[in-house]
Amino acid sequence: MTADIYYDPYDTEIDAAPHELWRRMRDEAPVYRNDRYDFWALSRHADVDAASRNTKTYSSARGTTLELLSGGGASTGMIIFMDPPEHGRLRALVSRAFTPRRIGLLHEQIRQQCVDLLDPYVGSGGFDFVADFGAELPSRVISALLGVPAVDQPRILNIINTMFHIEPGVGMMNDTAINAMFELHAYLTEQLDERRAHPRDDMLTDLVRAEIDEADGTKRRLTDEESANFGVLLVSAGTETVARLLGWASVALAAFPDQRQILVDDPSAIPNGVEELLRYEAPSPAQGRWTTRELTLHGVTIPAESKVLLLTGSAGRDERAFANPDVLDVRRRLESHVSFGLGAHYCLGAPLARLEGRIALEEALRRFPTWEVDHDKAERLHTSTVRGYKKVPITF
Ligand code: HEM
Repeated sequence: MTADIYYDPYDTEIDAAPHELWRRMRDEAPVYRNDRYDFWALSRHADVDAASRNTKTYSSARGTTLELLSGGGASTGMIIFMDPPEHGRLRALVSRAFTPRRIGLLHEQIRQQCVDLLDPYVGSGGFDFVADFGAELPSRVISALLGVPAVDQPRILNIINTMFHIEPGVGMMNDTAINAMFELHAYLTEQLDERRAHPRDDMLTDLVRAEIDEADGTKRRLTDEESANFGVLLVSAGTETVARLLGWASVALAAFPDQRQILVDDPSAIPNGVEELLRYEAPSPAQGRWTTRELTLHGVTIPAESKVLLLTGSAGRDERAFANPDVLDVRRRLESHVSFGLGAHYCLGAPLARLEGRIALEEALRRFPTWEVDHDKAERLHTSTVRGYKKVPITF
């Protein structure tokens, strides 16, 4: 009997504790149908994995959130909302700006930001792991990566928070969030103009200079519009996700103190611990797609032109892929997980996210080897793209 299974990504109660429901979906309705919002959902690891790699059948061109898919599409020109081959051409170009050298240059800056953010709380008895640390760090890092002047960084953080504003019924497609996106776009366009006149050693300058290979073999520079779009995507994709990862880290490591102790005693285990945290609670738990053809999976037929949610958050807890999936095991040998997506759209910022996660945990655990979470004062954030905490007050 699956009639009583109801999954709704807008329901904040479900969003607060979805794992039991997702387990039932995996077992009883691996191709789940929601009539109210007219979408399908895949919840098993193998299905999310296969669909993520199959851009021919599962298109991103109409957007990757339920609101965008329901609203008739996304014409934002961002790679995350493109299909091959256009996607590949633009991604190859922006990847060129996103070089290992640029990420490597951030290494010391990330550590310094962690020191600056965490040192004031040593001996203080507590702080908010997300508001005071986890949300601040990625915003500062992205600003440094792009080359946004430090004085503008608080304004950028404020715009990002507004971009993730969600309203009942319309989700992120509301005037407040859309206006914030326009504001960021305008700001980045100004910055790009400035780089054209006065180049610097930063990613905005790389974007102004980069050349794209066209289908006919010619080369051209990115338009202002394309460069600004990419900047908006980096800022929005690279900030809220890392903030959620660090929020989950603070909650999960307090819930599994033996696992936290392993990381305190052996910081070399932290990189694997970050992967396990990503599996355990995926910061970006659902990727939307649009089917380009009819397909049948587990005996269920999904028509062409349907909305499908790939439930990354459920895939990480699939007992078909991971033994004891509800247990956090920082030494778990992970073959792979889908929390950064897979295939053509595999997270472009994964190396940076891993670096931030690793250094943030190294610096936090070095100063605060144990803590308790004040769950009464902790606050969740409900958005269409990320899932996790807005506030996690901790005491030690
Ligand atoms: C823990 C942190 C992060 C998580 C969990 C995460 C997750 C994801 C996921 C699931 C996708 C695939 C979306 C899809 O298939 O539709 C993605 C794509 C992307 N991410 Fe991340 N991300 C994180 C951090 C970052 C950072 C730090 C940046 C940039 C600085 C970034 C930039 C991007 C971009 C540009 C894409 C689009 C790639 C494409 O469409 O080709 N992400 N991310």
